[in-house]
Amino acid sequence: MENNRKVTLTYNDGQNLDFPIMEGTLGPNVVDIRSFAKTGMFTFDPGFLATASCESKITFIDGDVGQLYYRGYPIEQLAEESDFLESCYLLLNGELPTAEQKAEFDRKIMRHNMIHDQLQNLYKGFRRDAHPMAVMVGVVGALSAFYHDSLDINDPHHREVSAHRLIAKVPTIAAQAYRYNKGLPFSYPRNDLTYAENFLHMMFSTPCEEYKVNKVLARALDRIFILHADHEQNASTSTVRLAGSSGANPFACIAAGIACLWGPSHGGANEAVLKMLDEIGSVENVPAFMEGVKAKTHKLMGFGHRVYKNMDPRAAIMKRTCDEVLNELGLHNDPKFKLAMALEKIALEDEYFIERKLYPNVDFYSGIVLSAIGIPVSMFTPIFALARTVGWISHWTEMIADPTMKIGRPRQLYTGAPRRDYVALADRK
Ligand code: CMC
Repeated sequence: MENNRKVTLTYNDGQNLDFPIMEGTLGPNVVDIRSFAKTGMFTFDPGFLATASCESKITFIDGDVGQLYYRGYPIEQLAEESDFLESCYLLLNGELPTAEQKAEFDRKIMRHNMIHDQLQNLYKGFRRDAHPMAVMVGVVGALSAFYHDSLDINDPHHREVSAHRLIAKVPTIAAQAYRYNKGLPFSYPRNDLTYAENFLHMMFSTPCEEYKVNKVLARALDRIFILHADHEQNASTSTVRLAGSSGANPFACIAAGIACLWGPSHGGANEAVLKMLDEIGSVENVPAFMEGVKAKTHKLMGFGHRVYKNMDPRAAIMKRTCDEVLNELGLHNDPKFKLAMALEKIALEDEYFIERKLYPNVDFYSGIVLSAIGIPVSMFTPIFALARTVGWISHWTEMIADPTMKIGRPRQLYTGAPRRDYVALADRK
């Protein structure tokens, strides 16, 4: 039963328990079930389909209409008018910076972008063909062994320094993971470039000749960073929050987030899109592939979303960026990109996808853009991790600063064996 302020549960033939209803600024109300354990039962919600795990002021998604706001600002406006570091400032601090604050923030981040030289030795411990995400989980986690001076999570200044260090160093760590794999020498960051330009420089410059950054590609990459910067309580952000709820240091928590992001249902999807395009091979094979999707032999990667059941607003922006990049590079007739566009068209017109409200998500197009820029497929998820680091650390900071924070400790419905006695080895059948 529900009235304006509470939901009443009737259980055990007539006992009542009231649960207050909480209202947010946007989105559905939530029922505060913290007192539910008084019933002697737990709630059951695998996958958190009906559970708000925390209160947050950072990002809002309206999945039904396809809207995404960072601190109240629509993602479309930020992608068009802001840049990544400004969006980082916004996510971290809650407000857009003044010109002075922006200059100071940009300077701080660029000043922190070197990594401790001894971290180079850590790379050498990995096999050359290690996946860059494996390297990133290890190296980002190892930052806690290098930056002891900012590990007091109860000190707001330490938290801020750690956040800046992470946002600044993760691109350097990701680029170095790629270069180690390729056998290229480490390329030091350049502070006269923008964040995205510097990343392209660290990825692709060589000591032999000058590397000229293409502004269209750098802008496209910056937009990819903005679009991936945060997405409220997704799996990796929830992982960061859960890891952080025990008091673990921020570098360890972000490493946990990177590990979670790696999965193909989450950040691994843009990599999976390119692998899928390679498997399909050419436009003639699309109908057979689609039959397999409908028979549930495989999924159409880059389609569908847990929250967006109309369209992913990031996908619309990325589709435009995709066009800009393909034009700039003269790639519109490239067979792989033609195949991607044919696949998108067929899926959008197919009853199976329409019925299930399956639309292309951001990863369908971001994979294509990254591939056109010349970023190898194995670097797609590290780039997602690089961009999401600000979201993770913003959520971590919000959680740690909340005086009501508790260690995350879900309960379970146990369906294993009931109590039984140990049987000696000789007596077992
Ligand atoms: N291809 C084919 N069928 C699909 C797909 C897909 N990509 N996604 C969902 N379905 C079907 C699913 O089989 C189910 O069909 P039925 O009702 O007949 O059983 C129906 O659509 C509902 O799907 P669901 O599994 O209940 O949806 P979900 O909310 O649990 O899953 C998802 C969301 C993103 C995990 C899933 O859509 C998926 O695996 N997509 C492909 C991977 C991908 O692109 N992931 C990137 C997400 S965006 C980046 C991010 O935010 O991390």
